Amino acid sequence: MAIKTVGVLGCGLMGSGIAQVCAAAGYTTVVREVDDIALARGVGRIKKFLDDGVAKGKVEVAAREQTLGNLSGTTNFDALKDCDLIIEAIIENLDDKRQTYGSLEKIVKPSTIFVSNTSSLCITELAATSSRPDRFGGLHFFNPVPLMKLVEVIRALTTSDETYQAVFSFAQSLGKEPITAPDRPGFIVNRLLVPYLLDAIRAYENGLGTLEDIDQGMKLGCGYPMGPFTLLDFVGLDTTYYIANIMFEEFREPAYAPPPLLKRMVLAGRHGRKSGQGFYKY
Ligand code: 3HC
Repeated sequence: MAIKTVGVLGCGLMGSGIAQVCAAAGYTTVVREVDDIALARGVGRIKKFLDDGVAKGKVEVAAREQTLGNLSGTTNFDALKDCDLIIEAIIENLDDKRQTYGSLEKIVKPSTIFVSNTSSLCITELAATSSRPDRFGGLHFFNPVPLMKLVEVIRALTTSDETYQAVFSFAQSLGKEPITAPDRPGFIVNRLLVPYLLDAIRAYENGLGTLEDIDQGMKLGCGYPMGPFTLLDFVGLDTTYYIANIMFEEFREPAYAPPPLLKRMVLAGRHGRKSGQGFYKY
């Protein structure tokens, strides 16, 4: 299964990062968004990241040009028909994903592998909604995608050995260090990270300390790059709330239950950095 051309569905925060690393690794990469405005915003994010990289001396000018040369954007499905691998990073909604797979399956080759970057939905269920459950898996990237080394590779119950191997090798070819994670809510990282973040909120609600002191404590005391509240704002409170609910629904353990404060902040529109306010103001 030679992968040469990659399609990325969605050019949001994750999709744009994924498209960037695929193009940077030399794959012909086609990224699809639903409309021109979303596409321009996503491609603009990639260009800015590469420009910042050049300014910081981390990216060669030639590498930036090569990456952008390997990348094209589209709002059509047809432009993805020659893709050997499709990475889906659209909204976390089963119906939207099902519809998108259905539209693509009409035009791609039978051998094309589909993977989802979902952080919360069941990979086996997603695979079952497609007509290629054996050529379907999960490839979960971390934000910011170009900087984070980890990718989780998830097998659905139905993923073939050949597909799993191809996806794992593909992740390595991006310069990432993949691990194999089970098809359970949160996979490996969010299964451990989300209860920690929820616990930090509960502790704060119970008066453990100020936001700043708790953040500073975990940063300087444990060497974490960000304290829990900075990380919550970075990941998005809405995203964390969504993942926590799915984990709680499946496991029914209090550790995964979203604390009341998190729910209210989401309801108030305080989603973190992206909305200008979360635990901190931006
Ligand atoms: N191009 C290339 N390199 C760049 C760059 C760019 N545009 N911007 C920054 N870099 C490089 C920097 O030069 C630096 O390199 P160095 O270590 O060799 O000096 C490195 O990347 C770090 O960048 P900065 O120094 O600018 O920033 P920080 O040191 O503050 O690191 C961070 C930023 C990598 C985001 C760090 O704070 C971090 O790791 N935070 C935690 C992020 C995290 O936990 N993400 C996972 C969230 S969970 C998730 O995504 C799962 C989902 O399902 C919810």
